[in-house]
Amino acid sequence: MTDTRPDPLDPATLLRWYVAMGVDLAVEEEPVDRTVAAPPPPAPVPAAVPAAARAPMPPPAPAAAPAFAPADFAGAATLDELRERLEAYEGCALKRLATRTVFGDGPADARLMVIGEAPGADEDRSGVPFVGRAGKLLDKMLASIGWPRETVFITNVVPWRPPGNRNPTPEEVTLCKPFVLRAIELIAPDAVLLLGGSAAGALLDRHEGITRLRGRWQELPTGAGGIPALPTFHPAFLLRNPPSKALAWRDLLSLKARIGSAS
Ligand code: URA
Repeated sequence: MTDTRPDPLDPATLLRWYVAMGVDLAVEEEPVDRTVAAPPPPAPVPAAVPAAARAPMPPPAPAAAPAFAPADFAGAATLDELRERLEAYEGCALKRLATRTVFGDGPADARLMVIGEAPGADEDRSGVPFVGRAGKLLDKMLASIGWPRETVFITNVVPWRPPGNRNPTPEEVTLCKPFVLRAIELIAPDAVLLLGGSAAGALLDRHEGITRLRGRWQELPTGAGGIPALPTFHPAFLLRNPPSKALAWRDLLSLKARIGSAS
């Protein structure tokens, strides 16, 4: 009897299996820690030269340049300049895997800022944060306390979609955090709503989970002074856990009590 089972070593079978497992991008074989400078390339081994012909030692070469120039987000004087610097930034590998840079959306003088984790597939396609299912719920949440989406500045701690919607790594968050911090300083809102554990953990430097952090006002240290920040559940989490909406509603009421409504 002939064996009709697919050959696991057949490249087409392997590719179909990858697709079925949710792989949608090819990345490098080895993880790269982009928070550290690349080591200098090894010096070429010189051919043996007779002692008499040896030239005096040249002065030492300057230290090797880092693998990427750290972005000077802090030096951006306006949101437009910050956007330009972010678009030009090549230090985070996520950018090479993403379709668009998702800078942020909303008025530069917004009194309320909302910060999520990272763009998903819909945001990666459109270049606008929170336009997918979670975004629709976020719009409703904000509108319910008198802050229509157009009045709020919305962004993420990481402006590029992590492949397969995985969580951003701590290194990726570290590389992108100066961008979001500068955005907060330039907008200088009355309050920041932090959606989910990644945003809250990264910006408040806290390691407790969001269940512990949510609903407790914190001070977010920035160059523009301390800005009140309220961690709450991420709308994507609320879509998966509807009973938690009651707690999120409490947080929204606390936000409204602190900064009122948009008009
Ligand atoms: N989830 C996020 O954290 N940010 C988005 O922009 C969309 C979904």
